[in-house]
Parts: sequence; structure tokens; C-alpha cells
Amino acid sequence: MMASRDSAGAVAGGLARHIPVLGGRTVEFLNVRAGGVYIDGTFGAGGHSRAILAAADCKVIGIDRDHDAIVRGADLVRSANGRLALVEDKFSDLEVAARGRGYEAVDGVVLDLGVSSVQLDEAARGFSFRHDGPLDMRMGRAGVTAADVVAMASERELTAIMATLGEERHARNIARAIVAARRATPIRTTSSRPSCTRAPAPSTPRPEPSKRCASSSTKSLPSLPPVSPRRSGCSSHADDW
Ligand SMILES: C[S@@+](CC[C@H](N)C(=O)[O-])C[C@H]1O[C@@H](n2cnc3c(N)ncnc32)[C@H](O)[C@@H]1O
Repeated sequence: MMASRDSAGAVAGGLARHIPVLGGRTVEFLNVRAGGVYIDGTFGAGGHSRAILAAADCKVIGIDRDHDAIVRGADLVRSANGRLALVEDKFSDLEVAARGRGYEAVDGVVLDLGVSSVQLDEAARGFSFRHDGPLDMRMGRAGVTAADVVAMASERELTAIMATLGEERHARNIARAIVAARRATPIRTTSSRPSCTRAPAPSTPRPEPSKRCASSSTKSLPSLPPVSPRRSGCSSHADDW
């Protein structure tokens, strides 16, 4: 855990304090210095931006494709007194974000890839298996949802997505179960996924390998949204970063 270094009290306000596990290492690797300009390409709950701003009298451009993350960061922007700018965009557009603020070069970039705890906690975002919600799983507001992919992708495409992006050993069996289940009822919510994709109860005897389906949906379903089947008429946003 990073020790709080809010000596630059100017950034003490804002977001409910999120302390990133690698915040201290991030500041160290970036070699944060006064006068420097840094890009936090995955702003999230602002933990890394806050750590960078607290480490020196520098500037940060925070980028996130999640509209809610940008809105939630407004207080931190205010308390940073002109040292933090937030941009709702993909980090693949970070050059545009930097140029838009007059910087041709910056001193460092940090990317903290993954789902934020806020996204996991909000059922409506569709990332949670604990709370029922729409099977959305989009980081931003545009593009196809996980429900669209689950509804439209072929069995082969679902297998490829889960095997490649989810490293799911049982991808083929899960894909087959999804295709069978969606014939009966559309899969639109996080709780309506086929039972095959749920973690087995600890006491469940282990089935023979040929009958095994999935050990856990926590690997397979999260792999779904970034890629959508072009042949099914959806655009891909895996290569959209
Ligand atoms: C693990 S969280 C970052 C947490 C952050 N470092 C903090 O300290 O609070 C990842 C964030 O990346 C964002 N994200 C995912 N893909 C993105 C992309 N292509 N461009 C910009 N942001 C993205 C998500 O919306 C999420 O808020």
C-alpha cells in the first residue's frame, strides 16, 4: 500500500479516497518531478492521479472512457487548482488529449488496465455477478454490450473470445451451453447466464473431463465485451484502444 503523501494539500479533496496498491511504485517509476506533465490514461477513481499530484508540483492529464469516472473526478479537479485536467476518451487518443492542452510531449504515462472497483460495485454496469444487473460490461457508453455479443456471436466466435481473452479452458463447452440457453431464453442479465457458467459448489463432485463445462464465469464472461463479431454485424472495440 502506498503511504499517503498529500503534502500538496491542494489535492486532498474530491473522490472518496482510493489508494491504489501500486501507487507508490507508480510515482517512483514515473520519477515524478516538479514541473513535469503526466498522463494517467485510466483515471478511474483517481488514485494514481492523486498520488502523482501529491508527489510533486506537477500536472496530470487524466483520461478515462467511463463518463461516470470523469464526472466523479470533478471535485479532485477543483482541489488540484489547475494541475489536473480530465478528458473523457480512450487512452489510445492520449496524444490528442495532450496536444489539446498544448503539450507535444509529456514526462510519463501510466495505464492501470482493468475494471475499477466502482464499476464492479454498480450492478447497472453489468460487471458484477453478486448483484443482478443488465449484461452490459461496457467501459464507455458506446458500442455493443456483452448481452449483444452473447446474443449474436456464433458458437465458434464465443469460443474464440473466451479462449483468447478469458484464457478459459472450457470455452468450447461454455459457448455450446450459451448457444443452447439463448435458444430458450435471451440472456440479458448477469444472473440469467447459463448455470454452466457458474462456479460449482465446493461440495460438487468433479465431473469427468468430457462432461466438464466451466469452473467459473468470472473468467469467461468478462472476456466477452471487448470483441464483438464483425460477421454478426457488430463493430469491434478490442482494437479500439
Ligand atoms: C483499474 S481502473 C483504474 C483505477 C485507477 N488507477 C485508480 O487509481 O482509481 C481502470 C479504468 O480504466 C478505464 N478504461 C478502460 N479501458 C479504457 C480505455 N481504453 N481508455 C481509457 N480508459 C479506459 C476504466 O473505465 C476504469 O475506470
